[in-house]
Amino acid sequence: MKAIVCNQFGQPNTLQYQEVATPSPKEDEILISVKACSVNFPDTLIIQGKYQFRPPFPFSPGSDVAGIVLQVGKQRSPFKVGDAVVGFVPFGGFAEQVLIKSSDCFPKPKGMTMVNAAAFLLAYGTSYHALKDRANLLKDETVLVLGASGGVGLTAVELAKLMGAKVIAAASTKEKLALCQQFGADEVIHYQEENLKDRVKELTNGKGVDVIFDPVGGSFSEAALRAIAWKGRHLVVGFANGEIPKIPVNLTLLKGASIVGVFWGAFAQKEPQKSLANIQQLLTWFSKGKINPHIDKTYSLQDAPKALEDMMQRKVKGKIVIDMEL
Ligand SMILES: NC(=O)c1ccc[n+]([C@@H]2O[C@H](COP(=O)([O-])OP(=O)(O)OC[C@H]3O[C@@H](n4cnc5c(N)ncnc54)[C@H](OP(=O)(O)O)[C@@H]3O)[C@@H](O)[C@H]2O)c1
Repeated sequence: MKAIVCNQFGQPNTLQYQEVATPSPKEDEILISVKACSVNFPDTLIIQGKYQFRPPFPFSPGSDVAGIVLQVGKQRSPFKVGDAVVGFVPFGGFAEQVLIKSSDCFPKPKGMTMVNAAAFLLAYGTSYHALKDRANLLKDETVLVLGASGGVGLTAVELAKLMGAKVIAAASTKEKLALCQQFGADEVIHYQEENLKDRVKELTNGKGVDVIFDPVGGSFSEAALRAIAWKGRHLVVGFANGEIPKIPVNLTLLKGASIVGVFWGAFAQKEPQKSLANIQQLLTWFSKGKINPHIDKTYSLQDAPKALEDMMQRKVKGKIVIDMEL
């Protein structure tokens, strides 16, 4: 089979499109024919050796997969050959076939395309876990989303709105902000041109925001925290900006506020029942037409390095997906 392979840590242009051996499923695994795999920011980090773990070489990046079951391991599985599934792997998705644990797979809803299915789990799973389980978001609260047009950011805008919150979206271009408005943002802040803290205070009549959804980091984190409301929750989702912020902790004392970590992958491993319930809720919302991922662009498997470059250069709105049919 063909795959995009990382033989050494480096930039996307060091990845190789090459032939690799097809793996066989162990007891609790299934082999799927990958039909689509979305691109997530961690894919840009794992190929550079900058992610939370470093897979042994050679490996393929890619986590968010949708496809058809080709083979089932010896252990009993809820899936059979030919089933259409959506699932999550630590890496290996930028390939024609991948092994996945049965427990990390879900039946693909009938009305969902393979591309939409691949764009679904990680972004919605993370945002929903963050807003529901980590922020305990209440109806009528105000949420500030940083990097709001990105993969997790845009799903946070959409979900916060669906959960009854008022949403302020912050992003770096007018086009990105316009997309956030299409996905339900009530207010927008162009954080390259406007002062983030002052604008948040203005938009909330001095009260500040109840929840900050922060997948960006850098200097925006402290600016946002300085505009948090009494008993606010600042969700630490990621550091797409490349800089892990050092926050003066007195800011939390002054507002009775919390800084709360979010790690969807670990949550899914440590609290599988809760994670499953979240995913079922998200798939139900999709089936009822209440949520739908925004697909900015699709790429062939061979063009996966270009997809990673586009993400690193901040060119992406919503999700980009490797479509094996291209
Ligand atoms: N904690 C978890 O469980 C979890 C799960 C998934 C992802 N994440 C993390 O969440 C973050 C976002 O992931 P994603 O897949 O949504 O990425 P994405 O689609 O690329 O979105 C990231 C957003 O960050 C902003 N940004 C600011 N500075 C940037 C820079 N130097 N390079 C790239 N983007 C920059 C961009 O918006 P503007 O141009 O508008 O600033 C962009 O839209 C990443 O740090 C990822 O590792 C965490």
